[in-house]
Amino acid sequence: MTDTDFAARLLRWFDAHGRHDLPWQQARSPYRVWLSEVMLQQTQVTTVIPYFERFVTRFPDLATLAAATVDEVLSHWSGLGYYSRGRNLHRAAQRCTEHHSGELPNTLDELVALPGIGRSTAAAILAQAHHMRAAILDGNVKRVLARHRGVSGFPGQSTVERQLWAIAESRLPDARISDYTQALMDLGATVCTPKRPNCVTCPLRKDCVALATDCVALLPTPKARKVTPTRRIVMLVLVDRDGQVLFERRPPSGIWGGLLGLPEFDTGEAAERELATRWKAPQHPVVARSIVTSLPTSNSTSSR
Ligand code: ADE
Repeated sequence: MTDTDFAARLLRWFDAHGRHDLPWQQARSPYRVWLSEVMLQQTQVTTVIPYFERFVTRFPDLATLAAATVDEVLSHWSGLGYYSRGRNLHRAAQRCTEHHSGELPNTLDELVALPGIGRSTAAAILAQAHHMRAAILDGNVKRVLARHRGVSGFPGQSTVERQLWAIAESRLPDARISDYTQALMDLGATVCTPKRPNCVTCPLRKDCVALATDCVALLPTPKARKVTPTRRIVMLVLVDRDGQVLFERRPPSGIWGGLLGLPEFDTGEAAERELATRWKAPQHPVVARSIVTSLPTSNSTSSR
């Protein structure tokens, strides 16, 4: 078996079963590929499609995005989650306007220097928008390669990750790099899935180490379980005579960073104090209620 066989089998499978009609595959441009790749970080294709369509209707090119306000960008991101992606996208567009003549750069080093673009996303942009030979290694691809080569150890660990990058680099075909990149992601998303992978239909099954050794369910090795601590907080719901509810801008980092939210306090006493001082004027709230709830201390949920 050679690495060429790997790519050839994958490409044959892609021609018959891969995804060819995704919106960012039409009118393909570096801007549209970049946007799709950022939206697809941590989010599935079916969720991303309507957001992508709305986003490119409002921000059809990099210049329009760079000229928009961050609040407008975030309002089009609203519901997709991981809002730092939207903020970084906007910042990166502004940086391209200032330093790259309004274009997304086309080298790995320049791309990864932009906010929100890691090595794998940069490679996906180069492969899909410029047909350049660059290896991707997102979560789906890590799973495919770890199983196919039988690589154990949590892929987020640097030694394991280095090993997987080396495998990814060694398998790049000389031609059809864009299709190959999409094929790897599609195989990971539709066949070599985390749970109940469909090994019977997999084009890589004949030399898959995990399948041969009955380790498919064990690879990739999960991260040691860590529970995100929660914090008890009190939120105030303040409603004025016109029925308007008071929202405040949250701090830029942490849970719901930078978004509007109900005023939040560590204790009921702190909420009472604020109510009595800041909003005590008679023209202010007519209804005040407090909610006691628990919030995770960060955006990250516990790993599997
Ligand atoms: N995940 C990341 N990039 C993707 C793409 N281009 N297609 C499908 N899933 C992806």
